[in-house]
Amino acid sequence: MTSQHPADRGVRNIEPKAPTTTDGGVPVPDDEKSAQIGRQGPQPIHDFYLIEKLAHFNRENVPERIPHAKGSGAFGEFETTEDISDITRAALFQKGVKTPMVARFSTVAGEKGSPDTWRDPRGFALKFYTTEGNYDMVGNNTPIFFIRDAIKFPDFIHSQRRKNGSGLRNNAMQWDFWTLSPESTHQVTWLMGDRGIPKTWRHMDGFSSHTYQMINAEGVRHWVKFHFKTNQGIEFLTQDEADTLAGTNGDYHREDLWNSIRDGQYPSWDLYLQVMPVDEAEGYKYNPFDLTKTWSQKDYPLRKVGTMTLNRNPQNHHAQIEQAAFAPTNIVPGIGFSPDKMLLGRVFAYPDIHRYRIGANYQQLPVNMPLSPVNSYSKEGSMAYEFNHPAVPEYHPNSIDGPTADPARAYDFGAWDTEGSEVFRGPIKKHAEDTDQVQATILYREVMDDAARERLHGNIAGHVSAIDPSETELLERVYAYWTAVDPDLGAAVKAKVEAGPRGNHRLND
Ligand code: HEM
Repeated sequence: MTSQHPADRGVRNIEPKAPTTTDGGVPVPDDEKSAQIGRQGPQPIHDFYLIEKLAHFNRENVPERIPHAKGSGAFGEFETTEDISDITRAALFQKGVKTPMVARFSTVAGEKGSPDTWRDPRGFALKFYTTEGNYDMVGNNTPIFFIRDAIKFPDFIHSQRRKNGSGLRNNAMQWDFWTLSPESTHQVTWLMGDRGIPKTWRHMDGFSSHTYQMINAEGVRHWVKFHFKTNQGIEFLTQDEADTLAGTNGDYHREDLWNSIRDGQYPSWDLYLQVMPVDEAEGYKYNPFDLTKTWSQKDYPLRKVGTMTLNRNPQNHHAQIEQAAFAPTNIVPGIGFSPDKMLLGRVFAYPDIHRYRIGANYQQLPVNMPLSPVNSYSKEGSMAYEFNHPAVPEYHPNSIDGPTADPARAYDFGAWDTEGSEVFRGPIKKHAEDTDQVQATILYREVMDDAARERLHGNIAGHVSAIDPSETELLERVYAYWTAVDPDLGAAVKAKVEAGPRGNHRLND
């Protein structure tokens, strides 16, 4: 077990004016001139320092994340300030415990160099280095999502990224996907509203979005949703402000976070939970495992847990942020999954991409390494850095005191009733008030005021206006999609689109 703060691991402290060396530590004779044969001669391949510099430079990139490629983050601390031991036994959530952590915020659809202020959900990924292993809460700044089945995720992301032919982003295909996936209505209303472009990462909330379960020391389970509420206040950018910034400072959000922490203005968020007793799930008006729905805070009020504060900038963006590998799979005793089909798909997706993007031993990198001991039987693979002592056996079962799992821990991560054992493909269960539009309608009619509704109309119409007017069937579907939320909304969008300038995005481009 290492006690070094995760933010300090891996740093080389080089003395001032130390002699330059190769990566192998060998002093080199010249920083600027490579070897050559004669005054105008060719260059010998045995100039190993030249070769190392050129070859290493060629390998500076790791593949960028497919979704959430553009982002940045910082280190900090989470302190549990309240007693929630009746809900979870997780060590990090016991009153008074302080846990070091790293956070990464991101946009979803853009590439690594894309502007921070594009309209998009923001990733809100947290890694807590707990005494029981790493716990990752890989959420967004929205409490919901566009779809409710992991099998649609690659299609959804494809619709947000670039066309195969032109290499351009295309609003027509975004609306094609959304209108053919009406479960997206709630999230698209949120996205096109004020929360769709936060002023900075400091001015947004974070959510688990999914329902998880928590298990207390007696084995009692509850369903929970996480809400990280910003202490900086919610603020947003208008479309015009965001468009201007996208052209003048693409790194606006990254810069804001960096400067705030550098200047000692540490952003913080209070964590609250919504807690549902397991026996209330079946009768709740919405399916509590449907990622396109929230739980009413009147039914399940927020219960405070503690505070997260970001107080250390990374020392190396590539090593500590680009190579940070967040995964819902990093879960600790006292917290468990739920029957949300999106969450269950994500449990596969993240470690899989990390093994591809960073390598099989990604958890041995300083930013990903837990603070607690690793007693595993995994071995070898590319870039293996840590290894078990040779006296530790390579296999289980063994007769020589190798690591042994504890059957008493079988329910640490909870359980749930599968309601049958037949394998089938079906929609998730519909509860009494489940329709695709119900919560978008509430958001539009009851949460937004007139000014917010007016901005929503403008933001949607601005986005839809990029569609070429010849796409009449698609445009009719877009108006019907919004009319199903509220007839006034459908009519306002149609009127604004038809009155304004039109673009040329076509489905077949
Ligand atoms: C990033 C898959 C849904 C939040 C990613 C990445 C993949 C992925 C492959 C790239 C990870 C990397 O390269 O490091 C999926 C799949 C989903 C899904 C298959 C649905 C089945 C969601 C949802 C949320 C979310 C619902 C939020 C509640 C994030 C965040 C990141 C991310 C925050 C960036 C993590 C970071 O900063 O490194 N997702 N995702 N994803 N996803 Fe998802």
